[in-house]
Amino acid sequence: MSEIHIGGFRRLQGRIPVQGSKNGVLPMMAASILSDETTVITNVPAIQDVFCMMGILKFMGCSCTLKDGELTLCPAGLDRTDLPEEYVRQMRSSIVLLGAVLGRCGRGSTCYPGGCSIGKRPIDFHLQALRSLGAEIREDGCCVQARAGRLAGGTIRLPYPSVGATENALLAAALADGDTVILGAAREPEIEELCRFINAMGGEVSGGGTGRIRIRGKKKLHGCRFQAPGDRIVAGTYLMAAMAGRGEVELAGVRPEHLKEVIRTLERAGAVFDISETAVTVSMAGRPLPLQVETGPYPGFPTDLQSPVMGLLCCASGVSRIRETVFEGRYETAAELEKLGASVTVREGEALVRGRPVLRGGRAGARDLRGGAALVVAGLAAEGETEIYDCFHIERGYEDICRDLRLAGADIRWQRQEAKEKEN
Ligand code: UD1
Repeated sequence: MSEIHIGGFRRLQGRIPVQGSKNGVLPMMAASILSDETTVITNVPAIQDVFCMMGILKFMGCSCTLKDGELTLCPAGLDRTDLPEEYVRQMRSSIVLLGAVLGRCGRGSTCYPGGCSIGKRPIDFHLQALRSLGAEIREDGCCVQARAGRLAGGTIRLPYPSVGATENALLAAALADGDTVILGAAREPEIEELCRFINAMGGEVSGGGTGRIRIRGKKKLHGCRFQAPGDRIVAGTYLMAAMAGRGEVELAGVRPEHLKEVIRTLERAGAVFDISETAVTVSMAGRPLPLQVETGPYPGFPTDLQSPVMGLLCCASGVSRIRETVFEGRYETAAELEKLGASVTVREGEALVRGRPVLRGGRAGARDLRGGAALVVAGLAAEGETEIYDCFHIERGYEDICRDLRLAGADIRWQRQEAKEKEN
C-alpha cells in the first residue's frame, strides 16, 4: 500500500505535461475489439484502470502490451464473450465492453460493474440502449446476459446524457445492420474522440459532441493508429493544485476549449489564465475567492472535479456552496478534508464550505479517485505535513501525481509501505 506525503505549503511554479485521458482511452480499448486487426493507441497513461482493462481484454483472448505510452491491441484471438468478474468489479467502465462484444460476437455476459463508491450507479440506460438495437437481455441476480444474432440499427433515446450508455450504444451500433440514431447523447469530449476513433477504424459516425449521434453500421472495421487526447480532469486537478500553491503553472498537452467551464469558474475564484492552443497557464496570488459551483453533464462543470474544487475552496476567503447533480454520493471526501482543518457541512444535497485562513497538515484517506486528488489539493495549501492513505484510488486515474506536482516545485512524495517497513 502506498501513501502520499506532502511537506506543506510551497509556492508552485513550473510546467507540467498532462497525461493522456483515462476516460478517453478506456472506451477506445473496448472499441478495438470491433475489428480483428491490430490497433495502436498512443499517449496512453500507465494507470490502474488501463491495466485493469488490459486484464479483461487478455482474459478474452486479445493480446495487449503497453510500452512508453503506446498500447498495442491485437484482438484476432478473441475467443471469450464473458467478462471476468474479478476485473469487472474493480472498474465500472468495463461495462462498455458489453456493447462491443455483442456487436462483434452477437453475445456477451458480465456481472454488474464496480468502480468508485460515489453513489448509485445503475446500468439500466446501457441495457435499454442495447435492447433498442435488438439485443435480448436477461438479468439474473448480479449477472447480465446479452444475445443478438446481428444487431439491427434503430433509434436510441437516452433519458439522461449518460457517458457510458452513449459509449455502449456507439460501440454496439458500429457493426449493426443499418443506421442508428442516439438521441439525448452525452456531449463529453471523450465521446467525440470515441466517434473519431471508430471513424479511424473505418466506421461512419457523425454528430459526436452533440446530443444527436448518427451511426451507419458497417459489416467490418479495421485496425487503426490513434493518439489519445490529454486528460482534462487531470489538467483541472493540477490547475486547482497550482491555485492552492498560489503560484504560476503551465499545463501542456491539453485542449483548453474542453476546460471552458472549469476555467470560467476558477477565474471567478481569482485565478488568471493565459491560454494557447494546447496549453493553459494559471496564476494565482492570494487565497481563492468563495464560489457557487454546480456540477452537470458537459459542457457543465464536471462532477469529476467537484471534490478537487472542494479541496481548493477549503482555504477560500469566505463561504462556498457546491451542489452535486450527477453522482449524489460524491460528498464523502468532506469528512476527510475536515481532518486537514477544513469546515464542510453537507446538507440537502449541497456542501457548504467555510474557507479557513489556514489549513493544517493531517492524516486523511482517499475515499475514491477524485476525492484522493482533493486531499492532495488541500494538502498543498496546508501548513505542516499531510499524509494521505488508500492512494490506490488515486493510482486508478493519475499516472504519478507526485512526479507531476514536483515539476512545479511541490514538496510531495510517495511513501511506499515496503520502504516504511524496511525503515522500521
Ligand atoms: C463517466 C466517467 C466518470 C464521470 C461520469 C460523468 C468514464 C470511465 N467515467 O462515468 O468519470 O464522472 O461519466 O461525467 O468515462 N445513470 C443511470 N443509469 C445508467 C447510467 C447512468 O441512472 O444506466 C446515472 C448515474 O447513476 C449518474 C448519471 O447517470 O447519476 C451519470 O452517469 P454516467 O454519465 O453514465 O457516468 P459513467 O459513464 O459511469
